[in-house]
Amino acid sequence: MQHPMLNIAVRAARQAGTVIERAINRGHTLRVDSKGNNDFVTEIDQQSEATIIEVLHKAYPDHAILAEESGLHDGNEYQWVIDPLDGTTNFMHGYPQFSISIALKHRGQLEQAVVYDPTRQELFTATRGAGAFLNDRRIRVSNAASINGILLGTGFPFKKQQHLDAYLNMFKALFLQVADIRRAGSAALDLAYIAAGRLDGFWEIGLQEWDMAAGVLLIQEAGGLVTDFNGGGDHLSTGNIVVGNPKVLRGILQTIQPHLTEKLRK
Ligand code: IPD
Ligand code: CA
Ligand code: CA
Repeated sequence: MQHPMLNIAVRAARQAGTVIERAINRGHTLRVDSKGNNDFVTEIDQQSEATIIEVLHKAYPDHAILAEESGLHDGNEYQWVIDPLDGTTNFMHGYPQFSISIALKHRGQLEQAVVYDPTRQELFTATRGAGAFLNDRRIRVSNAASINGILLGTGFPFKKQQHLDAYLNMFKALFLQVADIRRAGSAALDLAYIAAGRLDGFWEIGLQEWDMAAGVLLIQEAGGLVTDFNGGGDHLSTGNIVVGNPKVLRGILQTIQPHLTEKLRK
């Protein structure tokens, strides 16, 4: 049986999925605002977030919330971390690769995770200590023995272009060893794909906590590892993330570390 808090998170994600799917089928012009360099928010990001918060608040009025579009809402020692639409650029172009990401932390520790892909109706869930699932089927990270010949995922630093040179150096060093590299455009879904063994490894510079929180627990519960660029545990605060099974993770870290700039080493 699912944990009751996971059940509520799933309900919130599915309702948000309905909001997003309805918008796609309606096909009318979206209201879009700019938040920064290549960083956009549509009315659907906001509607999705409002839907999620309403469901969570109704069930748990005392819980705190950190949500991408509305920021911090104070509460008790439980905190929901929400990305209401991960992959907004894809969504704005009708490119069907985006997701909803909801995680629950208790006193700073990740406890519950949901990543939902409304296009394919794929629901990725995890509860700490109870494994990771895709639509009720248990999932595991891949068992690749090294980074040679793997399928690697990444995100381009399109909002943080100051890191482009360092990123391209890492990309080249990795590209020469792996089978191929994918940039699909929704970090939360990329991490869920790692948990499901569809991608063997992943790295990205400068993510936000809401992009990663649910995916991190999914991967840990699927037998994978998540670190920052130093191999430490500061990925949620630095936004610099490397993931994979233990052998893949080691290979990615060894390959990218010679290319870290001072800023990325922190
Ligand atoms: C973005 C996506 C993308 C990643 C960016 C994120 P958003 O989130 O996850 O894959 O490369 O860094 O900001 O803005 O679409 O929620
Ligand atoms: Ca995001
Ligand atoms: Ca988002």
